[in-house]
Amino acid sequence: MPDIKPVTLITGASAGIGAALADVFADHGHELVLVARRAPQLKLLADAIADRGRARSLVLALDLGRSDATLRIADELRDSGLSPQFVVNNAGFGLLGQAASLDRAEQIAMIDLNVRVLTDLSLRFIDSLARHRGGILNVASVASFMPGPGMAVYYATKAYVRSFSEALHHELKPKGVRVTALCPGPVETEFMARAGVPDDHFPRFLMRSAARVAREGYDGMMRGKRVVVPGSDNKAAALLPSLLPRGLMLSIVGRLSKMR
Ligand SMILES: NC(=O)c1ccc[n+]([C@@H]2O[C@H](COP(=O)([O-])OP(=O)(O)OC[C@H]3O[C@@H](n4cnc5c(N)ncnc54)[C@H](OP(=O)(O)O)[C@@H]3O)[C@@H](O)[C@H]2O)c1
Repeated sequence: MPDIKPVTLITGASAGIGAALADVFADHGHELVLVARRAPQLKLLADAIADRGRARSLVLALDLGRSDATLRIADELRDSGLSPQFVVNNAGFGLLGQAASLDRAEQIAMIDLNVRVLTDLSLRFIDSLARHRGGILNVASVASFMPGPGMAVYYATKAYVRSFSEALHHELKPKGVRVTALCPGPVETEFMARAGVPDDHFPRFLMRSAARVAREGYDGMMRGKRVVVPGSDNKAAALLPSLLPRGLMLSIVGRLSKMR
């Protein structure tokens, strides 16, 4: 029986916020397991981390949309003598457009990745997270605070992520497991291109770097925060739905998404 080593499992580590989170965790001395579909990008990231003198990451090139993906991750970890101390559920995507016009199968695949996979990986390793006094960092969005006409399914998946993570935060506290929902506003990543949002939609001053969002998410989770919303502009946006009538909120978000 090999030694069991604690690791941080990060999904969606081949780009954007996930890659930035991998850098932050690695630079704080965590050994990593990196998951996404694109092997070359994961290997480049693992090389860059190892070149900084950090532990070599395990790379798992895997489509999380496959029904056996989470089982395969668990099997790989067990076979490599690794057990999760932290799970970072970051992989996700959005689609811009009216729900009735967008491809239905793609929207179901979004629910599958953003919700089903995140839930599975949040629940699968709890004993191991408790043993290592670790935690779960779930990447939601500022979209989680409001309904989102023009990106209806995406906003709803993120509302699920925040609601689920907040409840899990409460449930797992007695076990010593931290659970945090990270709720960024617009971030400079491949997300917008994948979602079909034009590059210039958000003014530059509203965009944050993935590195900054990752640092705030890491620090917030380590401090045991339930929800982390990076930036005062996003904190204000997150407050709006509790101040405005629901109908007005729907019109504002719907109008903003039509401008995209
Ligand atoms: N960017 C923003 O403005 C923003 C704002 C708020 C919240 N978020 C959230 O932040 C998270 C990360 O997004 P990002 O902005 O960093 O976007 P990104 O640059 O597009 O990265 C998405 C990551 O998810 C992975 N991924 C997508 N589908 C996958 C699948 N089927 N199997 C395995 N991995 C998959 C991608 O890797 P592969 O393509 O290699 O599989 C990539 O590593 C998402 O949950 C997103 O909803 C983003």
